[in-house]
Amino acid sequence: MTDRWTKIAPAAEALLAGDLIAFPTETVYGLGGDATRDESVASIFAAKGRPKFNPLILHVTDHSEAERFGDISAGLRSLAERFWPGPLTLVAPLRERAKVSPLASAGLDTIALRVPADSLARELLAEVKIPLAAPSANPSGKVSPTTADHVLAGLTGKIAGVLDGGPCPVGLESTIVGMDGETPVLLRPGGVAVEDLADALGRPLITHKGAINAPGQLSSHYAPDAPVRLNADAPDETEAYIGFGASPSGDINLSPTGDLIEAAANLFAALRDIDHFNKPIAVAPIPETGLGAAINDRLRRAAAPRS
Ligand code: TXA
Ligand code: MG
Repeated sequence: MTDRWTKIAPAAEALLAGDLIAFPTETVYGLGGDATRDESVASIFAAKGRPKFNPLILHVTDHSEAERFGDISAGLRSLAERFWPGPLTLVAPLRERAKVSPLASAGLDTIALRVPADSLARELLAEVKIPLAAPSANPSGKVSPTTADHVLAGLTGKIAGVLDGGPCPVGLESTIVGMDGETPVLLRPGGVAVEDLADALGRPLITHKGAINAPGQLSSHYAPDAPVRLNADAPDETEAYIGFGASPSGDINLSPTGDLIEAAANLFAALRDIDHFNKPIAVAPIPETGLGAAINDRLRRAAAPRS
């Protein structure tokens, strides 16, 4: 069945045997497998029920290990230096003969790379000495897990175990930045605010809505079961309400003091918990600044028409 561990040894052992585990990162829990083994990567797609064309993020111990897989050129290097380890993923040209399963990059000539900051994730990577391919540890199309209990609710029986590191402090997936020619482009808003990226780059970051987008960005995603209405100043009498700030407080409040960092950390647990009300969901307006951009991105996906 599926174990719950608090020490890295059994998790490392399972990974080296080619099995899948879930592990904590500062953003959300990852569903990890050996990125160098085709069978392990294939079983990640199977466990998630994820379409195979969707490429995965490679988790590595540090910047120099990341360079073994991707060519982190001038445009991205300043971001790596400033934000790694941390909630930032960089999409770089895949190096020729990089030792990574082509399934992990879904056959693209680029690779998504991330150096997580979470201490258990870092210990685990140091122990196994292999890159871990890891999407968020939830069935495809469902809300990302920010606790070990969330992972077990979705993936029990499909993975060897979950390394329990408690709740994820950031609570939103990593920000993804790629290159369009010489220009860094934002592919997904996330745990690093775009304002901070622009500050590190010394110029505003362009948002890409076109060709080199992140193929996993299906519009309906992160979805609770009930329909979701956004920018609701108040619930109607049929709705359960996710509040933000003082009034109205709501059935669940992302941050009573209006703190966007606290709201990000609480978002995915709130989307799960609000489903227990068995009512349509209304969500308070969230400002578009700082982590608010990423929160609103996830909320729009939660509210998108279901396929
Ligand atoms: O915080 C996170 O990023 C978490 C934790 C576990 O690290 N992981 C995560 O992975 O959110 P996932 O698979 O749910 O999202 C990865 C995104 C997908 O939208 C995928 O399409 C995009 O990264 N991606 C991966 N490789 C890419 C590439 N070569 N080019 C463009 N987008 C890529
Ligand atoms: Mg995901």
